[in-house]
Amino acid sequence: MIAQDTESVVEITASAAGVAFGGNGPYNLSKLSALGIAEALHTELMTAGAIGKIQVVALCPTITNTNLLQSGEAATNGQVKAEMARNNDKVSDLTVKMFQARWAKSMTPDWVAQQVLKHVEEEKFYCILSNIEGVNSTYSDNMDARIAQRYSAMKSRQIAPYLNTETQQLAAMPMDIKKLKDGVAIITGSATGMGYAMGKKAKELGMNVVLSDVRQEPLSKAIRTLRMEKGNGRVEGFICDVTSEESLHALLKSTTTAFPGKSIQFIGANAGVIFTGSTILSGK
Ligand SMILES: NC(=O)c1ccc[n+]([C@@H]2O[C@H](COP(=O)([O-])OP(=O)(O)OC[C@H]3O[C@@H](n4cnc5c(N)ncnc54)[C@H](O)[C@@H]3O)[C@@H](O)[C@H]2O)c1
Repeated sequence: MIAQDTESVVEITASAAGVAFGGNGPYNLSKLSALGIAEALHTELMTAGAIGKIQVVALCPTITNTNLLQSGEAATNGQVKAEMARNNDKVSDLTVKMFQARWAKSMTPDWVAQQVLKHVEEEKFYCILSNIEGVNSTYSDNMDARIAQRYSAMKSRQIAPYLNTETQQLAAMPMDIKKLKDGVAIITGSATGMGYAMGKKAKELGMNVVLSDVRQEPLSKAIRTLRMEKGNGRVEGFICDVTSEESLHALLKSTTTAFPGKSIQFIGANAGVIFTGSTILSGK
């Protein structure tokens, strides 16, 4: 992206679970790491003088209405769930029911995808989204209060003091998202949910879209559906398991082969799984 020297976006899907801890230890840890990667990437791009051209957005939604609870089992071929069962650390029916009740009344993936682009346009790094008005969920409410609590605990050790005035001004340059038109968007874990919704938004913007996922069947369906959505860009899709470096390299290679001469102007690092009932204590 740096070599391309065009306006580009790196979207990293963390979660509100990476901002304010709410149970589900291993998931929260992975999301805290995703947030840390986004922050570190932003700082490195700033040092490289690329901020203003390449924008990083850390997506931290609260509960969004997707099939995340179910897709993880298929994405891992039931392996993680089997290991959890071996550890006698079974998914509690009650937890699942509680999550599902909240899920049904939560934000839509399309709305979340729209917010990602809005945050890019407004040059905002943390895309922290609370549930839409009128929805009551103890986990998702009062995100601002939870953020304040966390930061008052962390006192001055925030990301902002890293910036000097000059780079801060550079970081505040708004991006014209129309400049992403004709570029290529690659999104991982985009067969369904928010990843797919981001692909749809990218296509609407006039981008070419590469969907990718570890699940073949929903991926094929997503490619067919997205091709019929608004936008003139081309849609391709490739199987990619983000836990394998080799698979990620193959995704990049397939993309550059499918779109020769086109710039990759949106990367969405979005794939993820959740297993309610998994704990740090059990190691799963
Ligand atoms: N739904 C929510 O409430 C919520 C809230 C905050 C963050 N998130 C995060 O949003 C992201 C997208 O999830 P979603 O809610 O849209 O659910 P989703 O299940 O529709 O999307 C996740 C996708 O990732 C894929 N995937 C899983 N493991 C993979 C791997 N190793 N390689 C490639 N793809 C893989 C799945 O097959 C699935 O298609 C995830 O990272 C999730 O943790 C979700």
